[in-house]
Amino acid sequence: MTSPIAHFNGELLPLDRIAVSPLDRGFIFGDGVYEVIPVYDGVMLRAREHFERLQRSMDEIRLVNPHTVDGWIRASEALLAHHPGNQSLYIQVTRGVPPKRDHVIPRDITPTVFMMVQPLASPSREAVENGVACITAEDFRWKKCHIKSTSLLGNVLARQLSADAGAAETILLRDGFLTEASASNVFVVKNGVVAASPCDNLILLGITYELLVRLAADGGVKLEIRPVAETELRAADEVWLSSSTKEVLAVTRLDGKPVGSGMPGPLFKRMHALYQEHKAALARSRVAA
Ligand SMILES: Cc1ncc(COP(=O)(O)O)c(C=O)c1O
Repeated sequence: MTSPIAHFNGELLPLDRIAVSPLDRGFIFGDGVYEVIPVYDGVMLRAREHFERLQRSMDEIRLVNPHTVDGWIRASEALLAHHPGNQSLYIQVTRGVPPKRDHVIPRDITPTVFMMVQPLASPSREAVENGVACITAEDFRWKKCHIKSTSLLGNVLARQLSADAGAAETILLRDGFLTEASASNVFVVKNGVVAASPCDNLILLGITYELLVRLAADGGVKLEIRPVAETELRAADEVWLSSSTKEVLAVTRLDGKPVGSGMPGPLFKRMHALYQEHKAALARSRVAA
């Protein structure tokens, strides 16, 4: 099988011809940031918002962005020209390759830019219709979760807990409050009102989270952004996950117990429909939205 085309430091190359120095700070320290953008039939969903978040992540780690948002969009489109259909575009920027290993941030090194494309694994019909099972765990990650950092060991270990339990995600709790899940944001619904955790340093501000907040406002769905207590999560009528690849997905079992009726609830169905309409409008316009 031929190796898929990827982007490495401005060049389009077969993935298996790309090699990274072991001194790259992404390899040695996890010193880098990334994005994942869903692509529907060649069109990126919310490309600008993803590249603006990449800029915020880079600002947080004091990394100079090698491209403007428009430059990133052009480079992405050049790569996507090799990958028609529904795809997941992965973008990673690390601090680059210094002459020696030293924690102190080196001056004047060139960031390493890597982009690859993988088939988009959208949620199965079964997952949309029946929801998924999740477990909870203590949020043992650091306090800079708003940075979309490639240092993902905390998220990896958190996700593995649910993988071991045969569940789809691990929902994280810090000091008695909901934060997010290992690779998704979390929404809870009680008595017809949706609640989502504030976008502070303890969660990643999901592009899908922002989109759902906007779609809820436009669609007349009541949504509050405020701290959500563990007790509210456990007593919720509905719980949802959101991410660029999961879209919006109902959680119907939490720690082995049914959530609400044990089936995706009415507000989930409404939000899911609004999200699908948004995607369909994107396909019709065939421009990055
Ligand atoms: C920790 C974490 N929170 C939230 C999200 C959701 O972000 P987005 O909607 O931008 O995909 C992700 C996505 O990977 C994530 O890793």
